[in-house]
Amino acid sequence: MLGILYVLFLFHCKPVCCVFQKLYCSIADSCDCDFKPSIRDLEWDLYKNVYGQHLAQDIVSEEVARFLQNKSPDRPLVLSFHGSSGTGKTLVSSMLGNHLYGSAMSSPYVHQFVPTLHFPSPELVKKYREELKSWVQGNVTECARSVFIFDEMEKMPSGLIDVLEPFLGPSHVVFRTNYRKAIYIFISTTGEEVINKVALENRQAGRDREEIRLADLEEAIAQAAYSSNMSGFYQSSIIQKNLITCFVPFLPLSRRHIERCAHSQLCQQGRCGRSDVVEAVGGDMIYTPIQGQYFSTTGCKAIPAKINFFL
Ligand SMILES: Nc1ncnc2c1ncn2[C@@H]1O[C@H](COP(=O)(O)OP(=O)(O)OP(=O)(O)O)[C@@H](O)[C@H]1O
Ligand SMILES: [Mg+2]
Repeated sequence: MLGILYVLFLFHCKPVCCVFQKLYCSIADSCDCDFKPSIRDLEWDLYKNVYGQHLAQDIVSEEVARFLQNKSPDRPLVLSFHGSSGTGKTLVSSMLGNHLYGSAMSSPYVHQFVPTLHFPSPELVKKYREELKSWVQGNVTECARSVFIFDEMEKMPSGLIDVLEPFLGPSHVVFRTNYRKAIYIFISTTGEEVINKVALENRQAGRDREEIRLADLEEAIAQAAYSSNMSGFYQSSIIQKNLITCFVPFLPLSRRHIERCAHSQLCQQGRCGRSDVVEAVGGDMIYTPIQGQYFSTTGCKAIPAKINFFL
């Protein structure tokens, strides 16, 4: 009886407990806020379920592992994903969220921003800057291990993202809020031309896709992001000051990757044996360039609709 009363008491006190917990978190800087990272599961997911993206697989698993193994990192982890539509950028960002928190992407500590939804009017940049800044501050104070995902950066009003610059640097600990443990992911199609060009040259030269290295692309992607007024990073101090830990290129997908995507989606429907549909979907996509037909123009994006059509 006493036990039941105690549980009821605790239940009623939950908001008070939460307040104390939050207070403890901000003072002790050791609150795990549901943070249950599983690097192994992340790696497994990346290597098993992402096709044709050796650079993204290697960079994301290595950088995240290195960052999380360090109990007191000197700066946050800042990754910027680049590549054509349908190549897996949003997919990989979700995998990250899924394997870091107990409640996966629905965790209150994984924050996703979509500019067209959250920052729709370029003339309100000043207001958005204030809101974004205090929002990040508030969330990092509540949970130092917060994850912020900014998708579709190319639609982000220019000048907005620079408001995060002080948080991305090496030495930001203010009133015991530790800004160095957060993870920031930026996602855009910016730089797709240079990535696709390098992939095409590699293919035309008959080399293995896996021979493409980050060093072949990193500088050019940074340059494209800095100089394009449609990248969200136009003349951004974040790039100028090298605050992005790593640029992550997503390569264009070829027919065999498209067919793997189709096969995997068919399997999820319990139709693993429908190789006829896999082949039909692969054959129905548009590939570029005309000479060679190497890469799908829409990546794996339109596949569910095509599968339905051929079933
Ligand atoms: N490399 C890949 N491996 C496995 N599945 C993929 C891959 N790329 C895309 N997909 C699948 O295709 C669909 C679209 O992928 P995703 O949303 O990640 O594309 P994106 O790169 O974010 O494109 P966009 O720039 O248009 O937002 C998802 O269902 C995803 O699972
Ligand atoms: Mg996307």
